Amino acid sequence: MHKRVALFLGLFVVGSLTLAHAAGNAAAGKVKSVACQACHGTDGNSVNPAYPKLAGQSAGYLVKELTDFKDGKRTNPIMSGMAASLSTQDMEDIASYFSSQTPAAAATKADPDTIKLGARLYRGGNRKFGISACMSCHGPAGDGIPPRFPRLAGQHATYVETQLLAFKNGQRKNDDHIMQSIAFRMSLAQIDAVAQYIQGLH
Ligand code: HEC
Ligand code: HEC
Repeated sequence: MHKRVALFLGLFVVGSLTLAHAAGNAAAGKVKSVACQACHGTDGNSVNPAYPKLAGQSAGYLVKELTDFKDGKRTNPIMSGMAASLSTQDMEDIASYFSSQTPAAAATKADPDTIKLGARLYRGGNRKFGISACMSCHGPAGDGIPPRFPRLAGQHATYVETQLLAFKNGQRKNDDHIMQSIAFRMSLAQIDAVAQYIQGLH
């Protein structure tokens, strides 16, 4: 009996440690992410539209992307190098820090017709082209569904467009073919419109 209790307690402790590990430490992450902040912003709200905003992004998604960069499943001249020296604990801490920051809302400068086309695609997809509604996985307000479906609301249109083009031409393929098959069916005008709509979404 005693043995069983000990075993049970042992499992409980191991379980709690695993949970604590998975959560990451935001305070440690703030310190570890100083080099990242140069591009992604002190609070994860980058200014340069080529660098994605990380503020408020799901920690699970951030850890997955950093792991993919490190393992070569997603490639980028800058990020492949940046992720190479990070341990799993570093990734979890950094992800926890950026995830806990408040995403800044952004305006969009696109014309009303472009925004209307982007909104229609985002909310309803396009049956003729076989494009699924973005909303069904990324959420009606673009908050994403953690940990698998990333937040998109307020993301720089420039970055969103780059990623959709990378999925379309098969350059980014760490998505289990979900985004590749959607982006493949999108025209350049549709990609531009939905990217503009996403930037203004909040
Ligand atoms: C010199 C600028 C620069 C620095 C420094 C930098 N990044 Fe990045 N980061 C980028 C760019 C550019 C991309 C987009 C890559 C692409 O197009 O695939 C990116 C993408 C990412 C992504 C993917 C985000 C998403 O929405 O999919 C994560 C996560 C990330 N960076 C985290 C980090 C972390 C953590 C560090 C520090 C260890 C860091 N970055 C340092 C420029 C930078
Ligand atoms: C069936 C679910 C699903 C639908 C529908 C969907 N997405 Fe995604 N999307 C995903 C997943 C999963 C990822 C994360 C891929 C990964 O693991 O890197 C993603 C990633 C993305 C990214 C990259 C985000 C980043 O930070 O790098 C963009 C941009 C994106 N989706 C835009 C769209 C747009 C625009 C639409 C509608 C035209 C759409 N998605 C529809 C599942 C979906």
